Amino acid sequence: MSNLAPSDKAYVPFVSVDNMMKLVHHIGIEPMLAGLADYIEEDFKRWELFDKTPRVASHSEEGVIELMPTSDGEVYGFKYVNGHPKNTREGLQTVTAFGLLANVGNGYPVLLSEMTILTALRTAATSALVAKYLAPKGADTMAMIGNGAQSEFQSLAMKAIAGIKTVRLFDIDKGATRKAAKNLAGLGLNVVECDSAEAAMEGAQIITTCTADKQYATILTDNMVGAGVHINAIGGDCPGKTELAPAILERSDIFVEFPPQTRIEGEIQQMAPDHPVTELWQVMTGAARGRTSDAQITLFDSVGFATEDFSALRYVRAQIEGTDYFQDLDMLADPDDPRDLFGMVRRAAPK
Ligand SMILES: NC(=O)c1ccc[n+]([C@@H]2O[C@H](COP(=O)([O-])OP(=O)(O)OC[C@H]3O[C@@H](n4cnc5c(N)ncnc54)[C@H](O)[C@@H]3O)[C@@H](O)[C@H]2O)c1
Repeated sequence: MSNLAPSDKAYVPFVSVDNMMKLVHHIGIEPMLAGLADYIEEDFKRWELFDKTPRVASHSEEGVIELMPTSDGEVYGFKYVNGHPKNTREGLQTVTAFGLLANVGNGYPVLLSEMTILTALRTAATSALVAKYLAPKGADTMAMIGNGAQSEFQSLAMKAIAGIKTVRLFDIDKGATRKAAKNLAGLGLNVVECDSAEAAMEGAQIITTCTADKQYATILTDNMVGAGVHINAIGGDCPGKTELAPAILERSDIFVEFPPQTRIEGEIQQMAPDHPVTELWQVMTGAARGRTSDAQITLFDSVGFATEDFSALRYVRAQIEGTDYFQDLDMLADPDDPRDLFGMVRRAAPK
């Protein structure tokens, strides 16, 4: 009788939501954000190695479902992610995600992971990494506009990586601001709840917009933005979904992840197709300049790019090694004779 139990080759390490949370606490949230930022930076610095394509998006009236693939030639990765701004009203997340890494040599998956939490961590780590390069020197105060699921991660990453000491919170929903303030209490940040976006921006050198609305919104108008600030624009990440008045873009030096994707999805969808932008990987390798003057407005037009998820999965893969923070998932059919897939199915018939 052949053995019907899965072989070693059938198993793929799987990180569930439960294990991701355990891993976060095992490492510590701030060290994990810093560790993720290191991996993300490392991969930006070897940018030219990667397969790059704008993500594959399937749009509907309600939202978007996207696939984000990339490869560094040795490891392949993708993330499945959705964006449905109406979801929170129905008790669901705006963004959920999972992702996979595979061996390029034989195509076998080597990691499957939840990525709803990991996306929040990697988005925040990326924002703070970029702020480290672009924010004005000595920046210690951030306005955090939009206090939903991503907001505490953004705040803590800016503390851990970019030296922020005070966050000034604003959301059109006071309940969201209260939630964020409560969650951030005791974590070493000075947290100020504000009644308007203008109030949140008082004294802030970094302005993060992280709202969710499926439209051309104007979270920041031109007159709100003074000289010398760094804007971290997170929520404009889909065709028809932006947060900034075009006049702000005219006055800013704009930094992006992957221009072909950002021109479709980012704030710059409001500008001419050849509007000048600087690629972040070039700032990180020293090939392009970041902030060049105190008066300059720098804008990170963030949409989230596949390499950041690849880096995040690569980080998780390294961290779970030798721990119990994963399960072996019987995910790959592995017949004794590779060509006898049908025979394997037949032998599994109930007796
Ligand atoms: N760039 C990236 O890499 C990236 C990654 C993840 C999520 N996102 C985007 O970030 C945004 C936030 O995601 P989330 O998971 O925190 O969403 P969420 O729905 O949990 O929170 C959004 C918050 O924005 C608030 N809001 C809406 N309009 C506002 C306005 N005019 N002024 C102030 N607040 C306003 C809402 O009340 C809500 O609390 C989404 O648009 C999402 O698509 C971007």
